Amino acid sequence: MQALFLKAIFVTFVAISSAAIGFGGITSNFVRTEWPSVDIPLDHEAFAIPEGHNAPQQVHITQGDYDGRAVIISWVTPDEPGANKVYYGTSNKNYGHSAEGTVTNYTFHGYKSGYIHHCLVDDLEYDTKYYYKIGSGDSSREFWFQTPPKSNPDASYKFGIIGDLGQTFNSLSTLDHYMHSGAQAVLFVGDLSYADRYLYNDVGLRWDTWGRFVERSTAYQPWLWSAGNHEIEYMPYMGEVTPFKSYLHRYATPYLASKSSSPMWYAVRRASTHIIVLSSYSPFVKYTPQWRWLRDELEKVDREITPWLIVLMHVPIYNSNEAHFMEGESMRSVFEEWFVHSKVDIIFAGHVHAYERSYRVSNINYNVSSGDRYPVPDKSAPVYITVGDGGNQEGLAGRFRDPQPDYSAFREASYGHSTLEIKNRTHAFYHWNRNDNGKKVAADSFIIHNQYWASNLSRRQLKKHHLVTIEGQTASI
Ligand SMILES: [Fe+2]
Repeated sequence: MQALFLKAIFVTFVAISSAAIGFGGITSNFVRTEWPSVDIPLDHEAFAIPEGHNAPQQVHITQGDYDGRAVIISWVTPDEPGANKVYYGTSNKNYGHSAEGTVTNYTFHGYKSGYIHHCLVDDLEYDTKYYYKIGSGDSSREFWFQTPPKSNPDASYKFGIIGDLGQTFNSLSTLDHYMHSGAQAVLFVGDLSYADRYLYNDVGLRWDTWGRFVERSTAYQPWLWSAGNHEIEYMPYMGEVTPFKSYLHRYATPYLASKSSSPMWYAVRRASTHIIVLSSYSPFVKYTPQWRWLRDELEKVDREITPWLIVLMHVPIYNSNEAHFMEGESMRSVFEEWFVHSKVDIIFAGHVHAYERSYRVSNINYNVSSGDRYPVPDKSAPVYITVGDGGNQEGLAGRFRDPQPDYSAFREASYGHSTLEIKNRTHAFYHWNRNDNGKKVAADSFIIHNQYWASNLSRRQLKKHHLVTIEGQTASI
C-alpha cells in the first residue's frame, strides 16, 4: 500500500516536473463505442413523476450563503402553488424547524411552468446532516443533505465537476458514475438540460424532465450552478427574447451573499475552497459589473482560511479542440492576468464536448508593442480543465487541432466527469473519469499542489525527500 502511494507521488512529481516544462502533451487514442446521442424518451423511468396530487418534483439544493451555513431548497409543484414551507431538523422524521419560501412561475411560448419554489434555510450548523420535508399530506417528500465543515485551511472535501450534461443515456451514465464517486457537492460548468434543442412547448417540458432526472443527486447535494449558452434561449421566432428565462426562474444562486449584482456570477466559500463562478455570456470587459465584481471578489480571497481557489466558467480559455476554438480568447484577454496574479489553482470549464487539461501556462506578457506572443510555462498560472463531456444530445467533439499545442497536456473525446478531492492545505487528488461503455475508468489523474501553500521551496524539498525514499523503495523491491 505504502509502495503504491509512493509510486503515485513519484508519478505525480514526474507529471509536475513536465508541467513546469510544459511540452509533450498526450492526445488519447481511446475510442469508445458511444451510445446514440439521443434524449431519453419522455416516458422513461429516469423522468418518473412522483406519486400523489401536486407532489413536489425536480427537487434541488444549492449553497445559500457565502460560508456554507445555508442552503436554497428548490422544487416544482405541477398543479397548484401548494405549501411553500420546508420542514427540517437533524433527526429523521422529526423536524423541529421550518422556513418559508417564495413561489414563481413563467410562460415560454405556449408552455406554462409549474409552481417553482425557492426556500432559503439558514443558520445551520456546520458539518451536520439535516433532514427535510416539502409538500403536504400524502404527497409530501423527504430528503437530506450534509452541511460542509466550517472553513479552515485543512478541511478536506470532495467535489465533483460536471458539464454539458443534457438528458441522454450517456448523461444518465455520467450521473450514475458521479453518484458513486463519494463526492459531496457538484461544481456544474454550464449547459444543463439542452431543452433549447426543442421547439415551442417542448422546451419547457424538457426543463421539467431534466429537473426530475438529476433530482436523485440534486435533492441531496448542493450543485453550484453556472450558465452556458444552452441556457440563453434567445428564440425570437417563438416570441421568446428574454435571455436565461427558464434557467433564472428554476435555478437559484446565492449571488447576493457575495455582493454580486447578478445571479449569473457569484462566489462561495466551502470547506477549504473559495469558488468563483463567472458568466461567459454576460458582459465582462473593463468596468462592466462582472469585471468590477471579480476585481473586488479576488481581493476578498483569504488563502489562510480557504487555501484552494477554483474558478468556474462555461467557455474554456485554453482549448485545442476544433469545436469552439478561440471562443475563450476574449475572456482570457480580460481576466488571465488576474488569474495568474491571484494564483488560482484550477479553472474548470465546459462547452467543448470532450476532456482536456492544460499545463500551467500563461499568455500575459504580450502587449500591443512587445512581449511573448504565445503561451509560456508559468508556475503561477492555473491548470485549465475542460470537462464539457457530460453526454448531451449533440454528441462528442472529436476533432482536436493537430499538432497538439504546447499548452495542452492531455485530451480525449469521451464522456465523463471529474472529481477534486481536497486533502489539506497543500494537496488534492484530481481524477477525470471516463464512462467507458458504462464502466467508470479513471483516465487522467494526478496530485495537485496548492498554488499558495505549496511554495516552490517546500515543493522542491518535498520532491527531493520523496524521490530519495522512492529510490530506496524501488531498490528493495
Ligand atoms: Fe456550451
